[in-house]
Amino acid sequence: MNSVKLVTFEFNSNPPKNQLLSAAKLYCEIWQEEPWNEEWTIERASDKLTKILSREGSLLIFAMINDEVCGFVGGKPTTTEELDERTKKSLADTLNPNEIFSIAEIGVGNTQRGQGLGKKLLGGMIERVSPDNDVRVVLHTDIKAESAKRLYASLGFRDTAITDSKVPTHTYWIR
Ligand SMILES: CC(C)(COP(=O)(O)OP(=O)(O)OC[C@H]1O[C@@H](n2cnc3c(N)ncnc32)[C@H](O)[C@@H]1OP(=O)(O)O)[C@@H](O)C(=O)NCCC(=O)NCCS
Repeated sequence: MNSVKLVTFEFNSNPPKNQLLSAAKLYCEIWQEEPWNEEWTIERASDKLTKILSREGSLLIFAMINDEVCGFVGGKPTTTEELDERTKKSLADTLNPNEIFSIAEIGVGNTQRGQGLGKKLLGGMIERVSPDNDVRVVLHTDIKAESAKRLYASLGFRDTAITDSKVPTHTYWIR
């Protein structure tokens, strides 16, 4: 863990090409795993990661070992309208009237897991977007994603049991 360096990108910035490629490779590997079973191409993964930075207030953090990305977390401010769209009103009602920041992606390469890196990435992002704990942080995850659920619980998130209308096996967690 000592040799891991965190690199942060803000709204409208572009990660260097070699870092983006490395992150996109990791992204493809991670989402192939259970329970996700998703097939991504490097191109689509790169697009997904860079699009996170298209909204004011967004952040993307890469964990680097030498020139390789071994973990990432990304998120952006969101609105109650967008959450309404995903959860058919129930979650936005719970969160109103706070500012809301949505975690879009988090992943750690499987050889680096269990050493506190996920907590460092997500904890660092929360510290940055909600230093006084006045911004609600939301994310959704699969009900079978045990490692992710433990990470979220360890950072004070709670499972609302409110499901995502687009992915019914995902529930929203808030903090
Ligand atoms: C979820 C994920 C990011 C966790 O990363 P990580 O670096 O292994 O997590 P950490 O080592 O920082 O662990 C954070 C906490 O969760 C717990 N935890 C994480 N994975 C665990 C596991 N498999 N079993 C038991 N506890 C686990 C740790 O014990 C720790 O709790 P503590 O602080 O109370 O001791 C990683 O497993 C991953 O990338 N999984 C695949 C992608 C994914 O599921 N992303 C989330 C999508 S919503």
